[in-house]
Amino acid sequence: MSRKFLLALALSAGLAFSQTPALALQPAVAAAPASPHAALESDVSDILDRMVREMGPDERLALTPESAAAFLNAEERERLSTGFVRFTVDRPARLFVAFDSAYGETPFWLTDLGFQRRADLDFIVDVEDPFHVWEKAVSAGEVNLGVPSLSGELKPYIVFAAPAEGEGTVAITPLVPGADVQTAREGGEAYVDDNDWFNALPAELDGLPVLRSFESWELVSRMVGFFRATDYPSSATPDHLQLTWQDDPRTGVTVQWRTDETVADSILWLAPAGDDGAGRMLAAGAAALTSRQIVNDPDIRLHRVRLDDLTPATDYEYAVSADNGQTWTQRRRFRTAADAGAEPYAFVYLGDPQNGLDEWGALIRQSDGRFPEARFYMIAGDLIDHGTERDNWDQFFHEGSTVFDRTPVVPALGNHDSHGGHPTLYLQQFALPDNGAETLDPGRTYHVTYQDLLVVVMDSNYDLVEPELQTEWLDRVLGQSDARWKVVIYHHPFYASRPGRDNHPLRDAWGPIFDRHNVDIAFQGHDHAYMRTVPMRGHEPVAEGEHGTVYLVAVSGTKMYEQELPAFAAFGAVNTRTYQIIQVDPATGTLTYRAIDADGGVIDSFDLSKD
Ligand SMILES: [Fe+2]
Repeated sequence: MSRKFLLALALSAGLAFSQTPALALQPAVAAAPASPHAALESDVSDILDRMVREMGPDERLALTPESAAAFLNAEERERLSTGFVRFTVDRPARLFVAFDSAYGETPFWLTDLGFQRRADLDFIVDVEDPFHVWEKAVSAGEVNLGVPSLSGELKPYIVFAAPAEGEGTVAITPLVPGADVQTAREGGEAYVDDNDWFNALPAELDGLPVLRSFESWELVSRMVGFFRATDYPSSATPDHLQLTWQDDPRTGVTVQWRTDETVADSILWLAPAGDDGAGRMLAAGAAALTSRQIVNDPDIRLHRVRLDDLTPATDYEYAVSADNGQTWTQRRRFRTAADAGAEPYAFVYLGDPQNGLDEWGALIRQSDGRFPEARFYMIAGDLIDHGTERDNWDQFFHEGSTVFDRTPVVPALGNHDSHGGHPTLYLQQFALPDNGAETLDPGRTYHVTYQDLLVVVMDSNYDLVEPELQTEWLDRVLGQSDARWKVVIYHHPFYASRPGRDNHPLRDAWGPIFDRHNVDIAFQGHDHAYMRTVPMRGHEPVAEGEHGTVYLVAVSGTKMYEQELPAFAAFGAVNTRTYQIIQVDPATGTLTYRAIDADGGVIDSFDLSKD
């Protein structure tokens, strides 16, 4: 079974929310795939647990490869020395283990297993990565080698094999699914899933069989840097208030907030604005979220109320309490959606936040202050930098909740949100509609209809989930909607703002469907620059009067890339953080788009109109 397929089935490690009548319930959980390193992962997990028990927070934060290795008991050390790469050789052989020395860590088990340093065989990978080589003689049969690193920084080492004596070629048979064997050549690639290549190989290694691993397996034994401190620890006072939609935006909204573990129950007060007499109390569902990596705040609770009986086109006020009504948060106001065509509305589109989240927070607050009529904020993925680290999310929610406490957020998944694995923390912390592609975890894809606008949220991480898993659903959702405006949002752009970054697998799979259903705008991210194409159809600019899709790329965080615009770009900008306000007037059938920079200036705009 391919790795892609396995990951497509990766389970939703969902939170179990306690049940009350008004709750967000947990999506169904798919079967867990078998990891090729399940036993090792379990061993590492046990060691991390022991570190939590036996080391103080500061000691965990200060771990080094040396102190982590010194912490291991004899049995753990032996298991980590033999639990990662497994293969057989068909004859007595000399093995050469080679790894990137740039990070200053030498796998501790090399000396344990009797490897000798062979500095004369060192070579360079990918122009600048200095690979160190160690050698050992082994008998014919099974060979078991140790973990890539304790820091998580080193891509897995590679293993060459030469016959112990005489001529001939050693036959290596990998025993870990996915690993493969190639003949080592200059220009050959060092990993199954990465294009790092051998610049030059010493004569003694050139032409030998080489056992290759996945670059993405590098974190399997990470201990150093695993433990982190959050700058935004939880408390008994609710924070990180956030609105999302799980139901019809006319009648529903889900309110979520966070507390520390001491708060078992909390409540929400809700009333139509100006009519406190019609107020009501609702018990929230709560779920514990434990992140043992966070040394100063490992246990938090998320509280949710899923409202689905609201009145359309109505302003509501709400407050939440974590002490049974003795104290309340300040009141917040939100507005439910009107029926299609009933009133003008606006929404905001943001490219990747990811880095510089404090400055990103200032940007969305500027947007919120200037355009309080915005009814939702949609984000084209890469909300944070390291999706597996809860402290990253804490900062995102700290900043985001200054706006999303009143205006629902509509997120899409980027590559950084899952960081090459399962987007567990993302799916746990966003209450999203369960109307996505049936082939994927709930929340990876979904759709929302706001008045006369259909928003389809896709998962463009095609290294993890094939775009084909979403095509049937996408075609159906777009085809069944009678919304006047149809837009899509996903992370990896069809058309990048720099050559070589187009994402052909997505474009090939989804482009014809966008064309068939006359998608108006594709909101994209990932490129850390700003670009708008002319309307496109079939990968070509459309003729005057023909319907095409406008493809956008934007960035709202501080990471910036260079740009080299394609011929069909209508506008581009570099080093410019923006938010986009899109105003829709159903009465006139117009959609007015403006991209606004951090100084408040309009850098790009266009209008669309329809009958
Ligand atoms: Fe990205």
